[in-house]
Parts: sequence; structure tokens; C-alpha cells
Amino acid sequence: MAIGKAVGEVLAAGDVVLLRGELGAGKTRFVEGMTRGIETDAETRSPTFVLVNEYAGRLMLAHCDLYRLSGPEEIGELGLDDYLDRGAALAVEWPERARDQFPEQALEIDMGFGEAPNDRLLKATATGEAACHLLAAMRAAAETGRYAGSDR
Ligand SMILES: Nc1ncnc2c1ncn2[C@@H]1O[C@H](COP(=O)(O)OP(=O)(O)OP(=O)(O)O)[C@@H](O)[C@H]1O
Ligand SMILES: [Mg+2]
Repeated sequence: MAIGKAVGEVLAAGDVVLLRGELGAGKTRFVEGMTRGIETDAETRSPTFVLVNEYAGRLMLAHCDLYRLSGPEEIGELGLDDYLDRGAALAVEWPERARDQFPEQALEIDMGFGEAPNDRLLKATATGEAACHLLAAMRAAAETGRYAGSDR
């Protein structure tokens, strides 16, 4: 959540964050951090039963989970491009359900479990300048441990 918040703090219009990782890896928690970073008070729910959650803060963050969607056609109907056109940023869980529907320029995060129950391993790959900016924020947050031990 802390690293997600750091990403949210520097998030800009049109940014795309793709979150991969098995069930329970912490993708939704990461997005919850992002919503705090854009300064919205709205509580983050898992979007598994909602098509797209919208969070309004410093900018709009649209959050969706493609796990239950049947295929590329249904995902196309979510109108994710429209969000980007309207200046929102996008966070997507299970993007591998429709990888070719997202811009190539994105921050891609692979999340997995570590040894201890609360450990998580994050691997991030940035494509494009905007995503590099997000990646730098992730790295800074992880390195400084600026959020370690905070209640968020
Ligand atoms: N770094 C972490 N340390 C400890 N617990 C975590 C961590 N990240 C997530 N969790 C816990 O794991 C559980 C699942 O997290 P979350 O809902 O974010 O997973 P998810 O990757 O979104 O799963 P799904 O694929 O089902 O959407 C939550 O109870 C959350 O509190
Ligand atoms: Mg989730």
C-alpha cells in the first residue's frame, strides 16, 4: 500500500498501471495505496463484482479487475480507452486477460508471495517515459522505507 501510494502521488493523466499476480498477491491493496496517493478519501473495494471503480482525487483513477470477464470483446465494452481520453489514469488487475488492449507504454507490476505470510515481492517494468517516472517513485519509496511502519 505504501509503494502504491508513492505511485499515486506522481500519477498523471493517461498513466496506465497493469498489476499481475496470483489471487491474494496484493494487487487491490496496491491500488488502494494509489487512491490515497491521488488524495481521495473513498474506500477502495475490490472491483471483482464492479466493472470499473472510479476514484476522484487530484485526477481520476479508474480501477478495474478483468478476472471474471469472458474475453477481449467484453473487456472492450468497458470503455477503458475513454477513461484515458478523458484524462484519467488506469489501474488494471488481471490485464493478461486482454494484454493487447492496453497501451504499450505502461508500468507493469508482477506481484508474488515471499517467504513470510506478509512478505510480498514486486517486480516492475516501465515502458515509456511516463511509466519510468512511476517506477522511479516506486523505487524511491522502497529504498527510503519512508512509509515503513506507517498505518497506511
Ligand atoms: N504486502 C502485504 N502484506 C500483507 N498482507 C497483504 C499484503 N498485500 C496484500 N495483503 C493481504 O492479502 C489479501 C489479498 O490482497 P488483495 O485483495 O490486494 O489481493 P489481489 O491481488 O487483489 O487478489 P485478487 O486477484 O483476488 O484480486 C488482503 O487481505 C490483504 O490485506
Ligand atoms: Mg484484487
